[in-house]
Amino acid sequence: MTTLIRNGTVVTAVEKMEADVLIDGGQVVALLGRQHTVTPTEEIDATGKLVLPGGIDVHTHMELPFGGTFAADTFETGTRAAAFGGTTTIIDFAVQTKGQSAMKGWEAWMEKARGNCAIDYGFHMITGDINDQTLKEMELLVHEGVTSFKMFMAYPGVFYSDDGEIVRAMQKAAEDGSTICMHAENGIAIDVYVQQALDRGETDPIYHGIVRKSILEGEAAHRAIKLAQVTGAQLYIVHLSAREALDEVIRARDDGLNVHAETCPQYLFLSLDDLGNGFEGAKYVASPPLRDAAAGHQDRLWQGLRTNDLQVVSTDHCPFCMGDHPRFGTQKQLGQGDFSKIPNGMPGVENRMELIFNGGVSEGRIGLNRFVEITATTPAKMFGLYPKKGTIAVGSDADIIILDPEATHVISADTHHMDVDYSAYEGWEMKGRVETVLSKGRVIVSDNTYHGQPGDGVYLPRGLSQCLI
Ligand code: URP
Ligand code: ZN
Ligand code: ZN
Repeated sequence: MTTLIRNGTVVTAVEKMEADVLIDGGQVVALLGRQHTVTPTEEIDATGKLVLPGGIDVHTHMELPFGGTFAADTFETGTRAAAFGGTTTIIDFAVQTKGQSAMKGWEAWMEKARGNCAIDYGFHMITGDINDQTLKEMELLVHEGVTSFKMFMAYPGVFYSDDGEIVRAMQKAAEDGSTICMHAENGIAIDVYVQQALDRGETDPIYHGIVRKSILEGEAAHRAIKLAQVTGAQLYIVHLSAREALDEVIRARDDGLNVHAETCPQYLFLSLDDLGNGFEGAKYVASPPLRDAAAGHQDRLWQGLRTNDLQVVSTDHCPFCMGDHPRFGTQKQLGQGDFSKIPNGMPGVENRMELIFNGGVSEGRIGLNRFVEITATTPAKMFGLYPKKGTIAVGSDADIIILDPEATHVISADTHHMDVDYSAYEGWEMKGRVETVLSKGRVIVSDNTYHGQPGDGVYLPRGLSQCLI
């Protein structure tokens, strides 16, 4: 069966072409000028539309156990919602908890995902217990296609690693060529401010944003970079939110270090103000926190995306309900009267592509090629999936989205597909709408309807990063 996407404008990270895309066996087999005589089995008309590589979200947490509950989206609901929003690959985080083998943690996450995903998926590994066995398992995991490891300078007593543990893991990553993904916030210092705020009776969600100071993200980023430098590891800073942290990344890259970073839509579009309004602010509690707009963080992040000081936009999708979740019960409300007990995380996997298209391309902050680069191509290269994923080229998987740049729609929890009872962008009007989504050549979303089934998505063993400086 062949499929032809006809009359659209094909955009990759480097090109914009008036071309028809011929698909066979789940892959792109030709990019054709308009004057051809191909008669496919199936045709999709993309007149007036953009034909783009499917989005790759390299930072999601489906079913993450966190803060006394679980992230509300399963691999089934979360990947279906991703597909609706034009994301055709995710890289989620498998978890090694204290005292557990990393390999066993990865196997558990493979089990959660197997047969349930709407789109293809890979895994990073959260290394929550660095010891001799874990270091050996890091190498084994690389052979299984888990080529990146997330470490936390935040969350003491949960996922936190001290500098010695980080050095040991980085030494191993440097040896194997794998990547260390770092949650860069000084959790030890932050916890002092948390306790002091609570002692003063400052319990509302807004204080989550106030105590997690941006300078402590900058400090942690600096330390992570220096530890990466001394060990020779490749470092990827996740969910970067603060200008102080971006300055550290810029300096490191100017010094020629293998340092990269992502930011997320919430840091580009939302701010500390959203954490106000009493307990409503719990919707926006994530770490790092939303930053003070007046301090210029957002503008600096956009600038970083334009200048390639930031290379990727991911979501850090980690939804928790405001009301009771049917299976997990109380979620955000766990933090009534104590902001430090609000499960950290926000929904977003469904919104990323349209938010960045609207706020980036439609509003003139970035061009179309850069949009593709930061949402699909560089994510694929960063985590060893290119050119199978992340572009439209002969031999690539036909993970393709058709986006109408003129169509508008309004984001709402009433219409989204994520299993969470609120939207962080409720009522926002988007210009630019993902209309059709193909995964490996099959239309899985069109006419606002899902045509796939759980298990269409398969595990992607990944290679090493293709983004070294
Ligand atoms: O608040 C967040 N970001 N929750 C998810 C876990 C993490 O730190 O990425
Ligand atoms: Zn994190
Ligand atoms: Zn995360």
